Amino acid sequence: MNKITEMLPDLYQGRKPTFRIENEGCQMNSLQTESIAAIMEQIGYEKISSEEADAVIYNTCTVRENANLKIYGHLGHLKSIKKKNPHMKIILFGCMMQEPHVVETIQKKYPFVNLVFGTHNIHKFPELYYRTLTSDSQIIDIWKESDEIIEGMPTSRKYPFKTGVNVMFGCNNFCSYCIVPYVRGREKSREPQAIINEIKALVEDGVTEVMLLGQNVNSYGKTLAEPVSFAQLLTEVEKIEGLKRIRFMTSHPKDLSDELIEAMAKSKKVCHHLHLPLQSGSSRILQKMNRRYDKEKYLGLVEKIRTAIPDISLTTDIIVGFPGETEEDFQETLDVVRKSEYDTAFTFIYSKRTGTPAASMPDQIPEDVVKERFNRLLTLVQENGRKASSRFTGDVKEILVEEESKEKGMLTGRTEHNLLVHFEGTPDLIGQYVQVKLDTCKGFYYFGHIV
Ligand code: SAH
Ligand code: SF4
Ligand code: F3S
Repeated sequence: MNKITEMLPDLYQGRKPTFRIENEGCQMNSLQTESIAAIMEQIGYEKISSEEADAVIYNTCTVRENANLKIYGHLGHLKSIKKKNPHMKIILFGCMMQEPHVVETIQKKYPFVNLVFGTHNIHKFPELYYRTLTSDSQIIDIWKESDEIIEGMPTSRKYPFKTGVNVMFGCNNFCSYCIVPYVRGREKSREPQAIINEIKALVEDGVTEVMLLGQNVNSYGKTLAEPVSFAQLLTEVEKIEGLKRIRFMTSHPKDLSDELIEAMAKSKKVCHHLHLPLQSGSSRILQKMNRRYDKEKYLGLVEKIRTAIPDISLTTDIIVGFPGETEEDFQETLDVVRKSEYDTAFTFIYSKRTGTPAASMPDQIPEDVVKERFNRLLTLVQENGRKASSRFTGDVKEILVEEESKEKGMLTGRTEHNLLVHFEGTPDLIGQYVQVKLDTCKGFYYFGHIV
């Protein structure tokens, strides 16, 4: 890193160079984006939001086809900017780069991209960037897999008072539609002590809310030399003084244990919000998806959670148009949506991912049928979400104030249920917890006032 810093005055004739970084993927990706941003800042670059920067960096996602198309779109645009500024460095990394056909396309069609790396060698970025600055050829460094977990990467948080913390990497579930296990590699859990130490340091630095992140946090710790359950980890995190709120994502229904539900119910810090991806309500489709639960098991879990934590806010992910999905299968999905009373559901049109088992399944569903189902699902999700989210009208809730809202004099924050609330207040309250009466529900957010 020092070597790069020393080069900069010559390279940029004494002015401070700039970079722009964008994150395309999930929250786990965005933590790695923050690490790369922190390294660029330490080297001596200034972060800006314009594409007319000295270095433009994209952390890519490939979970659905449109994520890929977006990157190719950006590259088309960057090509013309780079014509005007040939010294600009273009850097791509992350999940999409772990796909060999993507790298081939970049080599053939986008030779002006300077550096490509993947998901397993993010810690090598300073070295790779040095090579990028000292060479005119396209540098590509993709590792197929890595057993290592690199601790202590630098970070730069978006909010001083809340942040995500990775508890595990990769995924072993191989849901038949999903590319994540191929691009992120095998499941690896961090040592509990490393997680606790990181959170303690974050709390000392002003953080009061953490989101523990993993593709399937419910299987956390199973592969450690001394196995630990996710519920045990939560209990340990709970003990950290000064930490007020604990969130986590994502929970796979197949591994959601009674122990975890009990730990959540007992806890004073774990927020009453659970993201429990359904994917489909049809047991037949769930089996083809390799999800390893069925409709009854899912609904049974929802009931168990609601009994243990009556005010729980449930959210989910649903895929429409998986190969072979019939109208009857789709009706089963609608049925689970009606019964589960989600606050929000993220709905996705099935996207064929090269190399996954579902991509070669027969009976891929025609686009018009999928779109029509998708619209019906969206209408139901929105109607139900409005009803479910409005259940707190008139209540006083504790809000973590996050930012000034677009409207002047107004602030925005969240309840532990992850519901957005707008209310009058001054910016000095940002990062504080305040009691707010939820006066009116506007669908997915509230207007309230501080009491
Ligand atoms: N690990 C998480 C999800 C990660 S991907 C889990 O198991 O729940 C986030 C969401 O993207 C998934 O829940 C799924 O709904 C959606 N998704 C994944 N692959 C997809 C595909 N091929 N087409 C459409 N949606 C997909
Ligand atoms: Fe993909 Fe399934 Fe792993 Fe989630 S659990 S990341 S959907 S393979
Ligand atoms: Fe996308 Fe990779 Fe996350 S494919 S959803 S950024 S793990």
